[in-house]
Amino acid sequence: MRGSGPLDGQLRIGGAKNSALKLMAASLLAEGTTSLVNVPDITDVAIMTELLEAMGVEIRRTGQRVDINVPNEIDPIAPYSLVERMRASIVVLGPLLARIGRARVAMPGGDDFGSRPIDMHLQGLEQLGATFSHEHGDINGRADRLIGSEVFLEFPSVGATENLLMASVLAEGVTIIENAAREPEITDLANFLSEMGGRIEGAGTSRLRIEGVDKLSPVNYTVIPDRVEAATYLSALAVCGGQLHLEGARVDHMEMLLRKFEEMGMILKEDDSGLQAKVVDRLTAADVSTLPYPGLATDYKPFLVAALTVSDGAGMVTENIFAGRFRYIDELVRMGAEIRAEGRHAVVRGVRRLSGAPVRAHDIRAGAALVVAGLAADGETAISHAHHVDRGYEDLAGKLSSVGAQVTRT
Ligand code: EPU
Repeated sequence: MRGSGPLDGQLRIGGAKNSALKLMAASLLAEGTTSLVNVPDITDVAIMTELLEAMGVEIRRTGQRVDINVPNEIDPIAPYSLVERMRASIVVLGPLLARIGRARVAMPGGDDFGSRPIDMHLQGLEQLGATFSHEHGDINGRADRLIGSEVFLEFPSVGATENLLMASVLAEGVTIIENAAREPEITDLANFLSEMGGRIEGAGTSRLRIEGVDKLSPVNYTVIPDRVEAATYLSALAVCGGQLHLEGARVDHMEMLLRKFEEMGMILKEDDSGLQAKVVDRLTAADVSTLPYPGLATDYKPFLVAALTVSDGAGMVTENIFAGRFRYIDELVRMGAEIRAEGRHAVVRGVRRLSGAPVRAHDIRAGAALVVAGLAADGETAISHAHHVDRGYEDLAGKLSSVGAQVTRT
């Protein structure tokens, strides 16, 4: 890709990766065909498809619609070959224990963010009556019948909240999840489960109350738009200038991010079909600190750092969710960014332009941040290991080039 701008045009926001994956896993809770609409055609969805198919589920994609036919008998195994490629595979644990009382799921290892434990998932499920043993790198889970309980999460973990939510909908009695995660993707999962016949109160708050039912039914459901994809385009606009209309963007899911961009000088306006965004001058630097929702999402941070590298002034960036999520900074520095990182903090001093260079994507969001940086760089930037980007974005290069960015995928 090459330095680009100004951008001009409209982009449609696709379905949220981090919701679609969980809704696919949650489909295991009901026998029959669940249809999901607005499912992005990305590698992580393909991996979840492979995982469910290996369990005996039949899956058919037609455009953005995915039909998931769940049989009565499920083979409850998530092998390491798939979990290693996508750690979100762990969210099949809750539904499998709830539906058939057995699950053998490979233990995810660490990743580019550093160590990512699943202790809260397991402790929470144990409180509902599940037992776990560790064998040859797998977690072997059993539960005769899950029993509702009060679970207090030490940290509002997205994945732990989701696993507990999916397990407790079919548990006997009432489950309370205290300090639950409040991300829009959790609310989407709760809404999906409620349509299947689950009884859930408090979605979007830190206290979820779930009254177990005996059986759930398959449904047709539309996945919410991807707020992280929207944030990626806003960051591209931040460095290129111009104007974009983000069709389908949910402003109510991105309040904190939009405030941050407004603070930096972006002009934003919600309309009937999404969000209009405009950048006329070089943006001003701002401080960024990640927090669980409704705070600024850690997933936005790499793009915000990319935007700060060419903003006017200096910004302090603090990572409060994943201690190791700063690896892409070395790549940005190769492109001429002025960044000093130490522990959870980084100070980014804006320069006028970056300088295109060969760089490496370490994960999905880091890869997308390098795309944003490449649009703010003189000359050519070539991103290796770009397959990471495909895990979470459907045709990022095509979409950005349709609004004037010079980016191609080879
Ligand atoms: N944590 C524990 N123990 C646990 C679970 C989590 O210590 O049992 C810690 C983690 O190590 C981390 C913090 O709690 O420090 C938050 O982790 P969380 O469980 O909330 O994250 P996750 O469910 O593993 C999801 C998204 C991530 C996103 C985070 C935070 C999916 C598939 N992944 O991960 O998205 O960054 O929530 O919002 O939903 C991405 O899309 O690129 C991505 C990484």
